[in-house]
Amino acid sequence: MTDTKKTAQLSLNGETYELPIFSPTTGPDVLDIRKLYGQAGVFTYDPGFTSTASCDSTITYIDGGKGELLHRGYPIDQLASKSHHLEVCYLLLYGELPTAAQLEDFETRVTRHTMVHEQMHNFFRGFRRDAHPMATLVGVVGAMSAFYHDSTDINDPWQREVAAIRLIAKLPTIAAMAYKYSIGQPFVYPRNDLDYAANFLHMCFSVPAEEYHVDPILARAMDRIFILHADHEQNASTSTVRLASSSGANPFACIAAGIACLWGPAHGGANQACLEMLKEIGSVDRIPEFIERAKDKNDPFRLMGFGHRVYKNTDPRAKVLKQSADEVLELLGVEDNPLLQVAKELERTALNDEYFIEKKLFPNVDFYSGIILEAMGFPTSMFTPIFALSRTVGWISQWKEMIADPQNKIGRPRQLYLGETARDYIDIESR
Ligand code: CMC
Repeated sequence: MTDTKKTAQLSLNGETYELPIFSPTTGPDVLDIRKLYGQAGVFTYDPGFTSTASCDSTITYIDGGKGELLHRGYPIDQLASKSHHLEVCYLLLYGELPTAAQLEDFETRVTRHTMVHEQMHNFFRGFRRDAHPMATLVGVVGAMSAFYHDSTDINDPWQREVAAIRLIAKLPTIAAMAYKYSIGQPFVYPRNDLDYAANFLHMCFSVPAEEYHVDPILARAMDRIFILHADHEQNASTSTVRLASSSGANPFACIAAGIACLWGPAHGGANQACLEMLKEIGSVDRIPEFIERAKDKNDPFRLMGFGHRVYKNTDPRAKVLKQSADEVLELLGVEDNPLLQVAKELERTALNDEYFIEKKLFPNVDFYSGIILEAMGFPTSMFTPIFALSRTVGWISQWKEMIADPQNKIGRPRQLYLGETARDYIDIESR
């Protein structure tokens, strides 16, 4: 953030107030209103934060107009094609791509933390078998603070580091356990000879009764899904993690809060909702009916996997996933997958429709990811847990950045109060 010495003037009730302007390394300038209430006695009003920068950050940059997503400056398409998830985790956490020695050390640290406390197996057994894996995930990740007391002191940099590694390492294990529990199969322990994505597939799909071979092409597709979901600057769940941690709460509680926020269908829950929508549409000839419903103001239906608060041109993650969907389905010999046909035709129809053009609505990351995950064998209920385990590194990197910032203070928005003014209590007999 550079102080440009530029200011904006605000005229209010005959007074003029100078608002400093900060320039980012790239992107729009930012008006500093921190002293506004103290000086002028007014708040700003921005429900949904459409014009508000809630923090400064050096991790991720999005240019919604260009459809650009950068992690520490590196474009997402380059990371998706040339890197792998643990290297991206290192980049997000520490700011630079690792040397070979740094990467080896990091991978060893993560791999050595993939097992969970054995007592957690009993904890899982308290959940109903038919619980949604996201419900289990919120509970178990929150409960990590009860199992890992030695990494909950946020004022100790070493404990912060251990908590970060534990969360990145254990989330795939916990998500896979939530899945196994929901289908009544035994938990599968992690295998440290497999890479991050292959190990996750192993924990989800292997059973003790027979040998399971992880297909390297599917592991690569899984890893790419992890990379594409790794971080996305100050989205709803990341902002939730930051707000929760601004009070000094421990990292496991904060990440559980992020998972809860991610679950909603407007955010990470859209991948499950999108696949369910594609199934409901069912065939290409029913697309016009659903397009009309999406445009109808009196119908709450929206095209799931479409639209984004920031991207107004294209979501670069959706482009990579569309290509991945073709590759994975070809590998699995299901190129003529009817859902992919519906998705492609739905995209084509919407992108040529005046409503979607005018509102700048494009497929987002959730549009094609579900097709790939379902083809890999995941039920729809596992789509959002997979988003959550991928996003864990983003949440934890943003959390670490915030805790280390000397400007960090508790988040406390104000409001435009439209309720009653002070009035006297009325006894129940007189109401
Ligand atoms: N289908 C139909 N109309 C839409 C859609 C859609 N998917 N998305 C936005 N609109 C319309 C909306 O009705 C509104 O119209 P009007 O101006 O006439 O009232 C206009 O476009 C702007 O929508 P908004 O809700 O004010 O925009 P927003 O920035 O607050 O919401 C969004 C962004 C992603 C929540 C929204 O586009 C949406 O609900 N999409 C479907 C859910 C989805 O795919 N979510 C995943 C987002 S990407 C991954 C993630 O964040 O986890």
